[in-house]
Amino acid sequence: MTDPRRVSTPTQNAVLTGEAMTDAASESFIRRAGRALIVTVYGAMRVIRLYPPENEAVRNALNDLVTAGKTLLDQDKELELRTSGEFIFVNSTRLRLDLDNYASFSHLLSVLRKCGVGTISVTPEATARDWLVLLSQLLSLSASGEDVIVHDVVEKLEAAGVTTFTLGPPPVTDDDSDFMRRAKEAAKRTYSHSVAVTKECMGSVRLGQAPNIKKIKRVVQTIVDQILNEERSLVGLTTIRDYDEYTFTHSVNVCIFSVALGRRLGLSKLQLFDLGMAALFHDIGKSRVPLGVLNKVENLNDEDWRWLAAHPWLGVLALFQIRGLAELPYRAMVVCYEHHMKTDQTGYPRAVRPRDQSIFARIVAVADGFDAATSRRAYQTVPMSPAAVLAGMRDNPRRGFDQVIVKGFINMVGIYPVGTLVVLDTFELAIVHSVNPNPQAISRPVVRIVSDDRGNVLFPGELADLTEQSASGVYRRTIIKTEHPDRYGITVGDYFL
Ligand SMILES: [Fe+2]
Ligand SMILES: [Fe+2]
Repeated sequence: MTDPRRVSTPTQNAVLTGEAMTDAASESFIRRAGRALIVTVYGAMRVIRLYPPENEAVRNALNDLVTAGKTLLDQDKELELRTSGEFIFVNSTRLRLDLDNYASFSHLLSVLRKCGVGTISVTPEATARDWLVLLSQLLSLSASGEDVIVHDVVEKLEAAGVTTFTLGPPPVTDDDSDFMRRAKEAAKRTYSHSVAVTKECMGSVRLGQAPNIKKIKRVVQTIVDQILNEERSLVGLTTIRDYDEYTFTHSVNVCIFSVALGRRLGLSKLQLFDLGMAALFHDIGKSRVPLGVLNKVENLNDEDWRWLAAHPWLGVLALFQIRGLAELPYRAMVVCYEHHMKTDQTGYPRAVRPRDQSIFARIVAVADGFDAATSRRAYQTVPMSPAAVLAGMRDNPRRGFDQVIVKGFINMVGIYPVGTLVVLDTFELAIVHSVNPNPQAISRPVVRIVSDDRGNVLFPGELADLTEQSASGVYRRTIIKTEHPDRYGITVGDYFL
């Protein structure tokens, strides 16, 4: 067991000799003092967990922390802890890991990761109480088992009146971490497999055969599991829209969106599975609409419209005939029937008597509305920009969407969904890469710069976080408007390979 008080000694020695350090000496000083700081943080976390704040061991540990912080601040005039992958940096110097400090490094990294914290800047005014508040909050939030982001920690600090720390999310480059790489690959596999199984299932229904319901169940289960594990990769794939087969990708997209949305609304895993099944089947009735009608580009006559408007109840009939489910999929039937009804029942089919659209149908309606309007289809060669679609869903009450669910949806995909091509005020073009983890920065996603200010195409292009500010507090880059990738000959999918 390391006594936290012992480790502050070398840092104090170092500062005595630190007046005119060379670069190398300064780096080695930061390495030693930084390591001491991490070990001290770890020691403090341990005693905070064991004893009440007034206990002497806690007080000593916190005082050591203040001293260790000051040692670095005196020498470098700044103190920033930053994580990147498996490394910890102090003032841009990467700390070396050895067996002695392995426990403290990995513990701190895991606590910070669970809290969504990537950087902590400390001012010289940080007191023992400030450190106590910070570490206690990090410990309790990381142990909460919930999805925590840096913003939650910042809120807690503000509530406690602590202003001596500035916290930031993990760097964008963390996206290249092993975890994210694996999550992305798994998402791609899940996506293409889901599309293939959906295609097979709808094909069977069209031919009047029984679809393989076991396969469908497994697909939905995988989607639920993956969204519970890491949501961004799969949701990101749905908005890239680089796929041809609208009918099948549409069902899979609506399923992914609905499950991710349901998770945010607090549904249980079992409910998410039911919702996912219902969402995947929401347009199953279209398998009973003649292909000639479905593929018609223009001049739909009354008869065609009657066929299309019948797909909700045709779907209910189709579900009655699916065998292999232990019980009838009532919820899926309700979703089939209600997903075009709108919250005020002005949609179709017309309700015979007053009714409330079920919560599952409301969720699926939002996911469906967004995906349908942003997709390229036979009769919609230029899809609307995702941002315009979201604005319409939010601001036009006649669309008949549940406003709370639309809000949740916008929070999830961002105002500029992943894959959107945007023009920046620097005259660069960029593709939205991921939603900003900070919900306050919903209009400032992480983007990939795909063309410079002179129009030179950049590939693969660098990532930029639009919340980045210059020293004077001005945002480095801001989105001016969205554009259609075809106009610039850009294939968005190429940037997500
Ligand atoms: Fe539909
Ligand atoms: Fe649909």
